Amino acid sequence: MTKFNLNGKNVESTQPPDTPLLWVIRDELNMKGTKFGCGMALCGACTVHLNGEPTRSCVLPISSIEGQRITTIEGLSPNGDHPLQKAWVLEQVPQCGYCQSGQLMTAASLLAKNKKPTRTQIVEHMAGNICRCGTYNQIIAGIERAAKEA
Ligand code: FES
Ligand code: FES
Repeated sequence: MTKFNLNGKNVESTQPPDTPLLWVIRDELNMKGTKFGCGMALCGACTVHLNGEPTRSCVLPISSIEGQRITTIEGLSPNGDHPLQKAWVLEQVPQCGYCQSGQLMTAASLLAKNKKPTRTQIVEHMAGNICRCGTYNQIIAGIERAAKEA
C-alpha cells in the first residue's frame, strides 16, 4: 500500500511498489489527463508535478512517492482557468492534443518560479517535451501570453 496526496486529496494505491505512477494515476485512480507516450522518460507526455517539480510519471515507481504531493493536469487549477490554460485556448495551441497536458505541467513549473521568462528561457525549459504535431511555436506564444496576462 502506498499513500500519497493527489491534487489535494489523500489517496492510496494497492499496486506493487515498482508500478509506475502513470499507471496508478490512469488505471487505478482513473484520471486520464496524464498521457503515455514513450514510457522511457524521453517525451514528457506523462509529466506531473512531484512536490511542485515537473516529473515523468512513466518511470516513477510508486514506492518512491509515499507521503509525497502529486499534481496532475486535473489539479492544475480547480476550474481549468490557470493562466496557461486560458492562454492555450486563446493561442489555439493544441493540434491532436495528446502531448498537451505534459506541456502545460512543464510550462506551469516554469511560471511558478519565473513569472516573466525570456523566450530563450522558455525554449530551454520546454526542450524535453516532444510534440509530434509540431506545436512548438504556439506553445511558446501560449507561455508568453500567460506570463503577460498573469
Ligand atoms: S511517457 Fe513518460 S516521458 Fe514519455
Ligand atoms: S498536439 Fe499532437 S502531439 Fe502535441
